[in-house]
Amino acid sequence: MEKKVIRAALLGLGTVGTGVYKVIKNQKEEMIPKLGSEIEISKILVRNLEKAAAKVDDPKILTNNWDDIVNDPEIDVVIELIGGIEPAKTYILSALNAGKHVVSANKDLIAVHGKELLDAAEAHHVDFLFEAAVAGGIPIIRPLKECLAGNHMAEVMGIVNGTTNFILTKMTQEGMEFKDALALATELGYAEADPTADIEGLDAGRKVAILASVAFNSRVVFDDVYIEGITKITAKDIKYAKEMGCDIKLLGVAKNTEEGIEAYVCPMLIPSNHPLATVNDSYNAVFVNGDAVENAMFYGRGAGELPTASAVVGDVFEIARNIKADCCGRIGCTCYKEIPVKKMADTHNRYFMRLIVEDRCGVLAEMTAVFAKYGVSVAQIIQKAARAEESAEVVVITAQVREGDFRTAMEELSGRSSVRKISSMLRVYGE
Ligand SMILES: NC(=O)c1ccc[n+]([C@@H]2O[C@H](COP(=O)([O-])OP(=O)(O)OC[C@H]3O[C@@H](n4cnc5c(N)ncnc54)[C@H](OP(=O)(O)O)[C@@H]3O)[C@@H](O)[C@H]2O)c1
Repeated sequence: MEKKVIRAALLGLGTVGTGVYKVIKNQKEEMIPKLGSEIEISKILVRNLEKAAAKVDDPKILTNNWDDIVNDPEIDVVIELIGGIEPAKTYILSALNAGKHVVSANKDLIAVHGKELLDAAEAHHVDFLFEAAVAGGIPIIRPLKECLAGNHMAEVMGIVNGTTNFILTKMTQEGMEFKDALALATELGYAEADPTADIEGLDAGRKVAILASVAFNSRVVFDDVYIEGITKITAKDIKYAKEMGCDIKLLGVAKNTEEGIEAYVCPMLIPSNHPLATVNDSYNAVFVNGDAVENAMFYGRGAGELPTASAVVGDVFEIARNIKADCCGRIGCTCYKEIPVKKMADTHNRYFMRLIVEDRCGVLAEMTAVFAKYGVSVAQIIQKAARAEESAEVVVITAQVREGDFRTAMEELSGRSSVRKISSMLRVYGE
């Protein structure tokens, strides 16, 4: 279908919406040679018309009435950038049902209701694209669906939250404690006023659900993902991890194992020579492993006005090309398998723990006897100098063990009088 002007409506003119408006404006001269058609933002839905007027060249394109957009037959593409579940879900579904293509960066919504949205797109032969929902400016959804489609993916994991990566980088490089690094992140605009979704790992959990679904062709939703945040990490954990040749990163991990999918987000020790250990500040990176490609890593800005807009506009351009070639809805939902998601207790990892124990002969033997009872073998152990009150600090890294068995061993240990405190327990990435 020959279409020279493709009309799009933006929903929301916040950080990303403003970025999309700017990027589309910057691309104006090149659209015809690049795409064969021009994309015009013909309406923008905002809540406050007055506040938004300063951000656009022509305030007449602003509206605070969704009906102006959904009922406008001239609008081909709706770009949802208001975030949250409602009214975003209702708007997206009604746009798809009206035969409009939709681009969204809304991970909160897609991680829970992705299937419903993709089914609606398929039913109406339109595109629903969401590259920006995972790792902002880093291309990963389309690479997985298209460039890497010739693989059976075994693993997709990475650093998918910039705020927590910034905090952990400051704790590592400057020895800061968590609360001071968080305060710095807030001051510099890397953390939101309410940082809960970032520091508790929820934001990363949504991205892991989406990544796992796309990588393994089987639906994984937010509730399937086991999540731990970084609020309990101390500068001391990071220092001891370093002594054991590792860094601590908040990792989102999805593995496709013979027994099912593993999907979790937690702070993990990662060997300092792993490429992800060098991803610092607010940068993100996604590491994939497939049976044909082997390892591949994608690195870049995981958030921000223009990097996120880059991904959104890439999706809009894809739709423009599909409209021109009359091949919309080419790649919809790719979840054609039903693989179970494993409980965290059934996953296998290595574990790092810090314990305060009685400083006397036989305590280490007592500890290792409890470990042996549950199949936990010790790979590395360091006993630190004795602390006050005749106690000593012991740092242990275990060999691979089932998480449920490790936890039972920890419970038994914590009940022993020789163990005064288990200060931390973290997972270790890798074999
Ligand atoms: N920021 C990033 O770096 C980033 C990265 C990746 C993905 N995302 C995703 O992109 C989406 C947008 O994020 P953002 O950072 O741009 O958020 P934001 O700055 O808070 O912008 C959202 C905008 O939507 C407007 N809005 C909210 N509800 C509305 C409604 N019912 N009708 C009209 N306008 C409405 C808000 O208006 P008010 O100003 O009146 O509140 C605000 O201007 C989210 O889904 C987010 O998860 C963001």
